[in-house]
Amino acid sequence: KRPYIYITRKCSEEQLKPLYEVADVDMWKEEEIPCPREVLLEKAEKADGLLTMLSDSIDKELLDKADQLKVIANLAVGFDNIDVQYANSKGIVVCNTPDILTDTTADLTFGLLLSTARRLMEASEYVKQNQWKSWGPLLLAGHDVHHKTIGIVGMGKIGQAVAKRATGFEMEILYHNRSRNENAEKTLGATYRSFDELVTASDFIVCLAPLTPETRELFNKETFQKMKNSSIFINASRGAVVNEEDLYDALVNGEIAGAGLDVFLNEPIGAEHPLVGLHNVVTLPHIGSASYETRYAMMKLCAMNIAAVLNGNEPKTKVVI
Ligand code: GLV
Ligand code: GLV
Repeated sequence: KRPYIYITRKCSEEQLKPLYEVADVDMWKEEEIPCPREVLLEKAEKADGLLTMLSDSIDKELLDKADQLKVIANLAVGFDNIDVQYANSKGIVVCNTPDILTDTTADLTFGLLLSTARRLMEASEYVKQNQWKSWGPLLLAGHDVHHKTIGIVGMGKIGQAVAKRATGFEMEILYHNRSRNENAEKTLGATYRSFDELVTASDFIVCLAPLTPETRELFNKETFQKMKNSSIFINASRGAVVNEEDLYDALVNGEIAGAGLDVFLNEPIGAEHPLVGLHNVVTLPHIGSASYETRYAMMKLCAMNIAAVLNGNEPKTKVVI
């Protein structure tokens, strides 16, 4: 019997070819609506493999129902939506999509930094809303990026790719990470700082750390109070690393100057979210890796990883915890 694979969002069949060759592939086909939990639970019961999104919760309840399951391929580098330890204890292999999304995500992160500092979204809206009546010396003036200090929290591959971009803007680069990164120090001129030193000294604090028990609400009232009043906070990792109420207060009370956010605690958010209403906040709908090239490459990698496990081979990018 051919293995049965369920894919929780519509993906390009072209990229999934490696999977169609070895398995019966079933997919949630709606473009705009995610696969409901009940459907996912039902499909998981008979699935040999799952191709999941970061918005799917792959928890104990699901894993206990999934008696046939051998492999989960998450279409993301992050895997905080999956109980990896429990999955592994049941012999289920978990895969993610590192490396291929590094530069794409770093581009978006740096673009978000530039957009927030130079108020690009506000400025574009200003023109589109017919508000531009004259050139003005301080019209939509923002903050410089070049020659400022960037503090990168989470100096993994994406953090280093952001640091590389920062060198082009002649920024001073500080970083904080669980462990020292000698490569980043040598090749990018980045300087290690304790977390407190980093948030105190940086003009731009950029979070790229994975969500773990240690990083949950790492950015809270106390952290924002330590930041310069002129500083800008950028988050492109996971919303839960921030206490959003504390961030809102810090922005409203002038503890920090602005924020650029690609991720939120409870996604999706809408216009009613307090942070969306602030003029000095740029909000993006979690699009860090969203280029055609990279998303197609991620789909293909997921398909190849699932096929590898089903064929008894080592997948290219297994999550090791
Ligand atoms: C996106 O957030 C990812 O983890 O790939
Ligand atoms: C701006 O366009 C300038 O000429 O300074």
